[in-house]
Amino acid sequence: MDPKAIDEIIQHRRTIKPPMMSDAPVSETDLRGVLDSARWAPSHGLTEPWRFRIFRGPARQKLADAMATLYQTTMPLDQQKPEKLEKMRVMPLKAPVVMLVWMARQPNEKIAELEEIEAVACAVQNMQLAATARGLGTFWSTPGFLYTPEMNAWMGIGAKDRCLGIFYVGHPANPDEWPKGRRQSLDDKIEWVDA
Ligand SMILES: Cc1cc2nc3c(=O)[nH]c(=O)nc-3n(C[C@H](O)[C@H](O)[C@H](O)COP(=O)(O)O)c2cc1C
Repeated sequence: MDPKAIDEIIQHRRTIKPPMMSDAPVSETDLRGVLDSARWAPSHGLTEPWRFRIFRGPARQKLADAMATLYQTTMPLDQQKPEKLEKMRVMPLKAPVVMLVWMARQPNEKIAELEEIEAVACAVQNMQLAATARGLGTFWSTPGFLYTPEMNAWMGIGAKDRCLGIFYVGHPANPDEWPKGRRQSLDDKIEWVDA
């Protein structure tokens, strides 16, 4: 294996939001490849708590309608912004593939909830990297209503399951304008303890 290959994908991965995605469909092969990478994420006790509900084509309208309603019903009136509401209405229609990603809580609750959430985050990162390797952009979006009981009710999932993201996948409208990343220095984040 060439470690440079994975380093390059990790560093090249960027958030590409739906307005910057083209209408071009994501091939079944690419989408399957991206989803399959999620399956290989680690999970404590091999619970594999990741779940995906995938919206394509006209089904995206259902999600857009639900997002607008959830925004309006869960956000206090004085904090609602018309431009945010409009985003909810149109965002899912601007990416060829939109999925809800959630954590399915094991009935025996043996593994800490935090670890189950972490496992799903690993699965999402795998998908982001697998998408990058295929020239696809992704956007992990987390509007506040995701974490509400109203969201679980709309999805029809258990009270202890947790929706963790709306995940958009699509080809960048202009691959030559792939966004530049920026990060702080590694030295600010690590402590070496050698003795
Ligand atoms: C758990 C999680 C939730 C996120 N939620 C949002 C979000 O709701 N809205 C948004 O604009 N970006 C969201 N992002 C994306 C970050 O803004 C993005 O990763 C960051 O700006 C760095 O850019 P990059 O992904 O291109 O490196 C989220 C990222 C993570 C890991």
